[in-house]
Amino acid sequence: MKYMPIVMPEDIDKYFYNRTNEIELLNANLSLLEKGIPNQYLLTGYRGIGKTSLLKKILKHQPKKYLTTYIDLSAIYGQQKGKITEEELIKEILHQIEETLEENSTTLNKIKEKLIKNLNQLKLKNYTFNNTSLHDIPIPTITENYSKLSKFVMELPQKIVDTIDEIKGYIIVIDEFQLLKTLENPEAFFWLIRSYTQKQFNVSYIFTGSVSNTAEIITMINGQTGAFGGRMLQININPFTKEQTKNYIDEKSNNIKFTPEGFERFYKCTRGIPAYINSFCNILPNNITCTPEIIKESMILNIDNIAIMWLRVWGTLNRTEKELITLFVEYGSMNNKTIQDKVDYTKITLNKYLEILSNKGIIDYSADKKYYLADEMLKTWLKIKKDTQGRYPQ
Ligand SMILES: Nc1ncnc2c1ncn2[C@@H]1O[C@H](COP(=O)(O)OP(=O)(O)OP(=O)(O)O)[C@@H](O)[C@H]1O
Ligand SMILES: [Mg+2]
Repeated sequence: MKYMPIVMPEDIDKYFYNRTNEIELLNANLSLLEKGIPNQYLLTGYRGIGKTSLLKKILKHQPKKYLTTYIDLSAIYGQQKGKITEEELIKEILHQIEETLEENSTTLNKIKEKLIKNLNQLKLKNYTFNNTSLHDIPIPTITENYSKLSKFVMELPQKIVDTIDEIKGYIIVIDEFQLLKTLENPEAFFWLIRSYTQKQFNVSYIFTGSVSNTAEIITMINGQTGAFGGRMLQININPFTKEQTKNYIDEKSNNIKFTPEGFERFYKCTRGIPAYINSFCNILPNNITCTPEIIKESMILNIDNIAIMWLRVWGTLNRTEKELITLFVEYGSMNNKTIQDKVDYTKITLNKYLEILSNKGIIDYSADKKYYLADEMLKTWLKIKKDTQGRYPQ
């Protein structure tokens, strides 16, 4: 039986569809790394559009001469109970680089001696080491001189390229980068990366995450006054077109069939977002041709399964965030003043939460200065829950 996964499995090539243009564009740019042209990237796009899947696929197929490290900030965010510290972040980058080295054991062996020498130098300069080590490389316990450790970690990828003949480039993906906003000083961190990228000719960073295009963090990293000042190559991942959606379903679904009107309705509900296409197809009957009525009924009956992505997100939100979201469901798009009239917290608190929701890719900001829910499926899910259960999910 064919299956369309709602979480991308290990065997990504079996389930992954299309994105040939995006893959070509990114690979063409990444191939310049070995020539010393290190582009930096910012990958944007709706939640569930396939940013993480695309990057995992791209990393998986890089030539051996490039090392790749994937860092998912939500992992450390979870451990840190809602705030990321720079130390933890730098340690996580180091840890993931070491994982990469371990996977490439010849590379690791070649650089190990140098690394240990380097770390011993750090030791002389105020670091204390405890007994922990990763693959025989001692990891310093940070007591002070955070900047020295960060310098070591940030320079490491280029050092690896410089030390090992066969390695020509290093690609680092930072996923869920909007969580950097929880750093005490996120701007300083972006500038830190920027300052190192200027001296590193064979290292590329790719930032991506669940963040709306109008979020402040995008400006902070790549806006005119941001750390990268527009120099990052910003690539927006688009939904599947109608035709791609149709072909994708024909190719990968378990024999789902539509009437033309049924398909129109399906496309309107999923808007070509792979996460929804997959979760919706998984609950559609495959022994009958789906009409608009079947689509509508299936959607209402199975909304929790279709909008599963939002159930996960909802569980992570606090009361104020949920309350604001339900206001958008009730009243549609609103400007700051209209929202202020409907809530009883201060302007500062309201602005803080609007920014948080925007950095989480939940609301967007339009040209006419109104905030609105970035995703129709979230709205639909909440509406159906309210209609069927009398209240919004807690
Ligand atoms: N090209 C694709 N082919 C098939 N399925 C895909 C594709 N891209 C994404 N998907 C499906 O959509 C789901 C969501 O994709 P993914 O997690 O990569 O999105 P995302 O953009 O990283 O979302 P978020 O913003 O929430 O992090 C995946 O679990 C996968 O099942
Ligand atoms: Mg993702």
